Amino acid sequence: MTHTAHFKVWRGDAEGGGLADYDIEVNEGEVVLDIIHRLQATQAPDLAVRWNCKAGKCGSCSAEINGRPRLLCMTRMSVFDPAETVTVTPMRAFPVMRDLVTDVSFNYTKAREVPAFVPPPELEPGEYRMMQEDVGRSQEFRKCIECFLCQDTCHVVRDHEENKPAFAGPRFLMRVAELDMHPLDAAAESGLDRKRTAQEEHGLGYCNITKCCTEVCPENIKITDNALIPLKERAADRKYDPLVWLGNKIRRRGE
Ligand code: SF4
Ligand code: SF4
Ligand code: FES
Repeated sequence: MTHTAHFKVWRGDAEGGGLADYDIEVNEGEVVLDIIHRLQATQAPDLAVRWNCKAGKCGSCSAEINGRPRLLCMTRMSVFDPAETVTVTPMRAFPVMRDLVTDVSFNYTKAREVPAFVPPPELEPGEYRMMQEDVGRSQEFRKCIECFLCQDTCHVVRDHEENKPAFAGPRFLMRVAELDMHPLDAAAESGLDRKRTAQEEHGLGYCNITKCCTEVCPENIKITDNALIPLKERAADRKYDPLVWLGNKIRRRGE
C-alpha cells in the first residue's frame, strides 16, 4: 500500500538553516532512509545524508526523527501514523556540516583519550585464557556500532558544549568500564588506574545514571546498568576502601 507522507527535513549548514517541507510517496515496508533517498531522487538532489549499510550495522545514518535520536535505516515508516508529519533533523549534540550530516569528530577525540588494553607481560598472545563469564560481559559492549546516538542523547553534552572537554560520554565511559573489568588488562601493574582516570579524566561523575543513553542504543546495550553503574561502584569502592585510602596515603608520603 502506498500513501503520501508529509516530511519536514532540516536543510542548512554551519551558518544556519531551517526545516523544509516535502510531500513524498511512501511504500509498504520502507524505512525513513528510503524516503530520504526518494527525496534525493525526486525533489532534493543536493540533500546531504550519511549512510553506508542500510542494515543497522555501520552506524553512519544517525539523526533525529521527531526529536528522538535514531538510525534512519532502522526506523520503519509503519511506526508513524500516515497522517503524521515526520520531522528529520541532524544530531543536535554535534556541529552540523550540511543538512543531516554532522561532524562527529568529538567522538574520535574522546576515543583516543582512553588508553588501550595493556597486555599482561607474563603471557604471550595465544596464551590468554578467560572465564566465559568475563568474555560474555565485554561482548555486550563489543556490539557497539559507534553510531554515537548515546553521545547525542546524553544531557551532559547535548546542550552543554562547555562540558565536552571534561566528559567522554556514555560510549567511551563504557569502553573504560570494559577495560577496567577485563581480567587480563595489566593497566594497574603499569601504573594506570582506570577507576581514577574514569573519574578525573573522563568525567564519570557527570553521569547521573538517567539511562537515556541506554534507551536510544540500537544494539540494546545496557550501557547504564552494565557499564556505567558498575564502573561508578568500583570507583567509589576504590575511593572509600580503607586499604586503598591507606595505600594511597603511604604512596603519597613516599613520593
Ligand atoms: S546515564 Fe549517564 S551517560 Fe547515560 S545519558 Fe544519562 S547521564 Fe548520560
Ligand atoms: S553504545 Fe549503542 S548508542 Fe552508543 S555508539 Fe554504541 S551502538 Fe550507538
Ligand atoms: S546505514 Fe548503516 S546503520 Fe544505517
